[in-house]
Amino acid sequence: MKVLGFESSCDETGVALVETRLDGPPRLLAEALHSQVALHAAYGGVVPELASRDHIRRVLPLARQVLAEAGCALADVDLVAYTRGPGLAGALLVGAGVAVALAAALGKPALGVHHLEGHLLSPFLGDEAPAFPLVALLVSGGHTQLMQVEGVGRYTLLGETIDDAAGEAFDKSAKLLGLGYPGGPALARLADFGDPTAFALPRPLLHSANLDFSFAGLKTAVMTQARKLGPNICEQSRADLAASTQAAIVDVLVAKSLRALKASGHRRLVVAGGVGANLRLRETLDAGAARLGARIYYPPLALCTDNGAMIALAAALRLQHGLADVQRGGAFDVKPRWPLDEIAPMQRKTTDA
Ligand code: KG4
Ligand code: ZN
Repeated sequence: MKVLGFESSCDETGVALVETRLDGPPRLLAEALHSQVALHAAYGGVVPELASRDHIRRVLPLARQVLAEAGCALADVDLVAYTRGPGLAGALLVGAGVAVALAAALGKPALGVHHLEGHLLSPFLGDEAPAFPLVALLVSGGHTQLMQVEGVGRYTLLGETIDDAAGEAFDKSAKLLGLGYPGGPALARLADFGDPTAFALPRPLLHSANLDFSFAGLKTAVMTQARKLGPNICEQSRADLAASTQAAIVDVLVAKSLRALKASGHRRLVVAGGVGANLRLRETLDAGAARLGARIYYPPLALCTDNGAMIALAAALRLQHGLADVQRGGAFDVKPRWPLDEIAPMQRKTTDA
């Protein structure tokens, strides 16, 4: 069975074709992505109306490219998947509208996918798919959550951020350092030239008894430090502050993830979402997990940030597990705000970890 997936929740237009298999997770046949970074850079952040219009321009050429690369025709598609939410309303409507119209024209079903479930399951597109049960660290621009995952659609929330997400901490700190959008990768690049111990920044909730996160205080500390250094801050100090900020975020993410592994007794951790592309996070997690005898699974680097492959994959996995509520006909809606627990009842698990 072949699933064509569309992602358009924010500033990337992604299209991909995956094929289900009897003896393993779905296989990626082809994918294409258009990033709007250049379009929004001048504004210092995503401009929703520009994002929607650009999705409209890109989505069909990308779909044609994917089908051509896979050597498939539209008639070979069995299910059309799209990101139903959460995300920017106008941007979501483009992918959803195209997907549902295409499915209706082909006489095939369509399926709306939760963007975070796409991220969560994206490590199944890696070289070696993890087995269940596992712990998942979901670190994107809007979310920071630790989850226990018993299977597809069976998620238990272990802890989450009580204020800013990790990606937001990267982005806001990058802004304070005068780095452009997107801030996370820019801050990570600058951090390569800095000393992570140069500034003593807080590691909020590092020693709290639960698995929650908080990054708002860190942002304030970076702001205070940046103000002290003033507008004529030298390049080395900027790099040092970037490296110290990255180290503080990574330390907290790693400590809590390892604690979640210990508390759950699981030996597999999957890391998903844009911040999962951060190399210092990967190195530090790998080292910590090795000490615990645990194994970490990442999506391929290019599939950490938003993409169509994870949406096609999540739809295919849901379908395989009998969890897909597919739709037929032209009616659809999008859910700009959509808590993950609406698709997978999440029990909040308290832990004394
Ligand atoms: O998952 P994603 O692409 O979009 C959301 O669903 O939010 O995540 C985007 C977030 C942004 O905050 C971005 O700055 C961050 O991921 N990010 C990074 C890196 N690459 C992307 N943060 C730190 N280091 C990176 N290499
Ligand atoms: Zn995302």
